[in-house]
Amino acid sequence: MNVYDGQRIATLLQSRGMTQTDSIADADIIILNTCAVRAKATDKVYSALGRIREQKKPDALMGIVGCVARESGADAFRRVPELNFVLGPQSYHKLPEILENPDMRLLNIDLGGLEKFDELPQSDKSPALAYIPIQEGCNHCCTYCIVPYTRGREISRPFNDVMHDVMHVANTGAVEICFLGQNVNGYKYTAPDGTQYRLSDLIRATAKLDNIQRIRFTSSYPTEMTDDLIDMFRTEPKLLPFLNMPIQSGSPDVLTKMNRPYTLDLYIDIVDKLRSARPDIQISSDFIVGFPGETDSDFEQTMDIAQRIRYINSFSFKYSPRPHTVAATMPNQIPEVIKSQRLYKLDELLNNLQREFNESCIGKTLSCMLEGPDKTGLRLVYRTPYMQPCIVDKPDNTTPPTLANIEITSASKAALRGKILI
Ligand code: 5AD
Ligand code: SF4
Repeated sequence: MNVYDGQRIATLLQSRGMTQTDSIADADIIILNTCAVRAKATDKVYSALGRIREQKKPDALMGIVGCVARESGADAFRRVPELNFVLGPQSYHKLPEILENPDMRLLNIDLGGLEKFDELPQSDKSPALAYIPIQEGCNHCCTYCIVPYTRGREISRPFNDVMHDVMHVANTGAVEICFLGQNVNGYKYTAPDGTQYRLSDLIRATAKLDNIQRIRFTSSYPTEMTDDLIDMFRTEPKLLPFLNMPIQSGSPDVLTKMNRPYTLDLYIDIVDKLRSARPDIQISSDFIVGFPGETDSDFEQTMDIAQRIRYINSFSFKYSPRPHTVAATMPNQIPEVIKSQRLYKLDELLNNLQREFNESCIGKTLSCMLEGPDKTGLRLVYRTPYMQPCIVDKPDNTTPPTLANIEITSASKAALRGKILI
C-alpha cells in the first residue's frame, strides 16, 4: 500500500513539473512516506528526520505523510519543529497546498475516505506490475493493530472506479495487477442499482483483459475467504497460485486475545479447499510472537501450525505495543528477551520451509515476470508466480522479455537461479 501511495505522490509532484532526486542536499521538497505498524518503524522516521534536517537546503520543505503522520498528529511539529507538513494516509492529495503556501504549517490527518482516489492525477505510463487499491481501512480491530486507527474504518471503492483504473494501467503498460487492501478479500461494493460486487467479480473482469497476464491480491483475512473467491483459483489461470493469508498465531487462546475469532480447524479447512481448487497453490503468513500472555506452549502451537501448513515466504514479528490499541494495556507483557528467542526459533523454521520449497522448484519451468537488474547490474531479477526472486543472466543483444519461461537451475533460502527458455 505504501509503494502505491509513494507512486501516486510522485505522479502528483511530477504533474507540477517536479522531478525525483536521490540527493537530499538537492531536494526542494522531502517527503517521508511512513508506516506505524510497529514502534521500530515509527522510531526510524524520527531518526531519519533528524539526519535529513542536517543535510537539506535551508529552505527545502520537509514533511511526513502516511500512518506515522496520523499517529503523531500535531505532536510531530513539537518533536521536529522544522517539519512543514504532516499529512495522513488519506489526505496526502493535499500536498499541493504546501507548495502554494510554503510558509504555513500544513496538518491534515482526516480520514477522508475515498477522496484521494478522485483527486490524484494518473500516470500515463504504468509499471509492468500495477498496484490497484480496492479497499482501505479495516473493521477487524485485532487488539494489537494500529491500522483501524491510522487508516480508519473499511471502505470499498466502487467497482466501476476500480475497473477504470485497471483498464487505464492495462492500456499503459501493466502486465500484472495486484489488488490491494488491508482486508482485501473483504471487498464489498453495492452499486446504486443494487448490484453487489466482490473481489471475485474484479478478478473475473480483469482476467478478460488481454494485456493482463497475472493477477494477485494482498492481504487476506482468513474468514473472508469465501467460496466464490476460492473458486477463482480453480477457474482463473491468470490468478497466481500464491496467497498471503496471515494466521498470526497457532494458539486458540492467543487468537482469542488478539480478537481474531477463527478456529485452527476453520483455517486448515480453508487451506484444504484452496489446495483442492488449485493443487499448486502455496500460502504465506504473517506471525506475531510474544503477544501479551503468550506462554511457551502457545508459542509451540504457532511452530506446529507453521510446520503443518508448510508456509512459504512468511513474515514474522515481535509483538510491539502500539498507541490506540487494546493489547498495549493488557497484563502479562512478554519480556523482550523472550520475544527475541521465540522470533529466532520461528524464523529458523520459516527459513527452512522456504529453503525446502525453493529447492523443490529446481528443474521446474516457471512463468516469471521481469522486475529489473539485480544489485550488480549484471544480471536480471524475475519474480516467479510465488514471488520468489529468480536471478538470470542478461540475454545477449536482445531486450529481455517482460514475461519469460524460466528453467530453475539452483536455489537458496533467499532466491532462485535460472535460465530463460527461448
Ligand atoms: N506488533 C507486531 N506486529 C504487528 N503487526 C501488526 N501490528 C503489529 C504489532 N503491534 C503485523 C501483523 C500484520 C503485519 C502487517 O504486521 O502480523 O499482519
Ligand atoms: Fe490490522 Fe489486519 Fe487485523 Fe485489520 S485484519 S486490524 S489490518 S491485523
